[in-house]
Amino acid sequence: MEGLTTTKAPFIEKAQASGQRFIHQPYELYSEENHFAWASLYARIQARWLRHATPKFLEGVAKLNLDPRRIPKIEEINKFLSPLTGFSAKPVSGYIPAFIFFDCLRNRDFPTTVTIRDSSKLDYLPEPDMFHDVAGHVPMHTDKAFADTLVRFGEFALSAALIIQDLKDKEEQANRARSIIRALARFFWFTVEFGLMRSEGDIKVYGSGLLSSYGEIVHCIESPEVQRYPIQLEWVVNQHFEIHHYQPLLFIVDSFDHLFSLIDELERWLKDGRLNNVAPGEPSVSEADVESFLTAKI
Ligand SMILES: [Fe+2]
Repeated sequence: MEGLTTTKAPFIEKAQASGQRFIHQPYELYSEENHFAWASLYARIQARWLRHATPKFLEGVAKLNLDPRRIPKIEEINKFLSPLTGFSAKPVSGYIPAFIFFDCLRNRDFPTTVTIRDSSKLDYLPEPDMFHDVAGHVPMHTDKAFADTLVRFGEFALSAALIIQDLKDKEEQANRARSIIRALARFFWFTVEFGLMRSEGDIKVYGSGLLSSYGEIVHCIESPEVQRYPIQLEWVVNQHFEIHHYQPLLFIVDSFDHLFSLIDELERWLKDGRLNNVAPGEPSVSEADVESFLTAKI
């Protein structure tokens, strides 16, 4: 059996080698071991979701009818998801350059990996997998306010591309793109991926990186080593982050409406030039990310 194990899937390697970004989910290729990995991840995290996830996420899990025992079919998920918010999960072969990724969100498509991590190393994640994308992200997309927020990210990226492409000098375009992409990636990271939210006197988790991590979903709420602050835009866009360990610093929003309004503000900052020179440091912005903004057809 070929299998669709992350970093060990010939089907994915072939798609990547031929430059195919958007693919179908070759469901017949999943091995029993792949299904076992999904079932194990799902079974062990459920109680932690009930304790720490925002109620919107739990409602989303119920609405999607996710199968706890077998890897879900993306088509089936979309049958439940699309009528609710217009969003679809869209299978991809891996990394998607920044502008293309955000433009998918604007069109209510969510780029989704189809591989799953090795069943013998459930806590080790070399790159995003299906458990992160489908169990961590997609349930949030059933919520209208959250879905609209993701679309706002896409609109922000489009505004940024317009501003960048309007600059005369190529080098200036690239430098501007690098700073704006860094600011956007940081904002996305500290909200959609690792965000916390106030909820009836408690702090709950809505960030997908936390929702798909058996260890970090507890650590982020209970550990005295984590600093949790009300979100501040000027801090977030200048704050570097590292991806290979539990996050020591997290930001709290009041609601999804609050998050939506922050992207409005971020767009005002973009237009006022306040994102032109954000603090250097992680994340690194690849040439492909820069290029995607410079060459976006708008
Ligand atoms: Fe993610």
